[in-house]
Amino acid sequence: MKVLVIGGGAREHALCRSLSLDPDVNALYCAPGNAGIAEVAELRPVDALDGEAVARLATELRADLVVVGPEAPLVAGVADAVRAVGIPVFGPSGEAAQLEGSKAFAKDVMAAAGVPTARSYVCTTPEEVDAALDAFGAPYVVKDDGLAAGKGVVVTDDRAAARAHALGCDRVVIEEFLDGPEVSLFAITDGVTVLPLQPAQDFKRALDGDAGPNTGGMGAYSPLPWAGPKLVDEVMASVLQPTVDELRHRGTPFSGLLYAGLAITSRGVRVIEFNARFGDPETQVVLARLQTPLAGVLLNSANGTLHELPPLSWREDAAVTVVIASHNYPETPRTGDPIEGLAEVAELDAPHAYVLHAGTRREGDAVVSAGGRVLSVTATGSDLAQARTRAYKAVERIKLDGSQYRTDIAAKAAEGR
Ligand code: AMP
Ligand code: GLY
Repeated sequence: MKVLVIGGGAREHALCRSLSLDPDVNALYCAPGNAGIAEVAELRPVDALDGEAVARLATELRADLVVVGPEAPLVAGVADAVRAVGIPVFGPSGEAAQLEGSKAFAKDVMAAAGVPTARSYVCTTPEEVDAALDAFGAPYVVKDDGLAAGKGVVVTDDRAAARAHALGCDRVVIEEFLDGPEVSLFAITDGVTVLPLQPAQDFKRALDGDAGPNTGGMGAYSPLPWAGPKLVDEVMASVLQPTVDELRHRGTPFSGLLYAGLAITSRGVRVIEFNARFGDPETQVVLARLQTPLAGVLLNSANGTLHELPPLSWREDAAVTVVIASHNYPETPRTGDPIEGLAEVAELDAPHAYVLHAGTRREGDAVVSAGGRVLSVTATGSDLAQARTRAYKAVERIKLDGSQYRTDIAAKAAEGR
């Protein structure tokens, strides 16, 4: 099978790594990719937001499957353009990707499907904003309606800050604060059949102890020893299947990866957000544990034949991933700094720990930073404690001027807290 992956972050590196290990994949391309992906896939330049260009590239390469990684191309309809030229594509249509592209649309789908989520108001005027803030009280949760790369959400006790963020958005969702640990649960679907993956936990805040601003995600781990054994079944029944059914009944079937961001509250599971693609950095740990070869699963989603697959199989291993971000991430990340230590990790820590590149590019012989989240180190082990030790050992070998990482990824869970 010839596979073309669209995107160039750590999620796409994780996808390409798994696909490169799949015996059914005999050619693997990534467009545009990054310096790390170049080691497992052949890179092609492309404007990932240009559906016609992606469809042309897929045709030229005679791809059997196109996998669209990030949300922006999905919302822009890139999967539709590829489907239109008759090539199977893993990823939802632009219309179905509105589940991520518009928080108001997601709320409407959840209301219709009876999916539990925070109570919310969609506001477009200062009067509506004030009324919503007062209705819920602190802590205030204010979400830009549109795509914001994980940075459109402000959670704060400061009413003035909440109000200022709300007034800076064209359309804003203000909602009830949900208290409780967060879980990311991904499911692969073809619009009818839903196949859940293993749950993971993401660390969204920039600094240790969940301090600092929200980011795209600073680390993740899986499995979740503290979560009940029925969690996946419960979320399948109350969230994933009803959402997929509702979108199909609306005439906008969702195929691809449905990401449920959940809060486990004292009153039960609530959806915090949906995404229309694999999460980053959760994908790094979930795919590290997936034993079933990936390409066939993605192709069956693309072809609407997921019901033919046997259940997925998983390794007993635990996995931890730690993100290394550039100086001043998430505000104004600095780029262009050389990264050292990559060869040492490959030599000394493989196969249990490895680097997945996010924002990197090659400059002559050097690999330099090219984004806010620069790379993530992923490690596996017989339990979270071992995976964590291996991940941080590798992280310490990486030298990047001014860089930052959290030191507490999976710490509580590894100690059984
Ligand atoms: P989102 O982009 O919707 O996932 O929001 C980013 C982060 O903000 C989430 O991972 C949560 O940590 C936090 N958040 C979002 N919505 C809520 C809520 N209703 N209650 C508490 N925290 C929230
Ligand atoms: N890790 C959060 C996200 O991918 O949106």
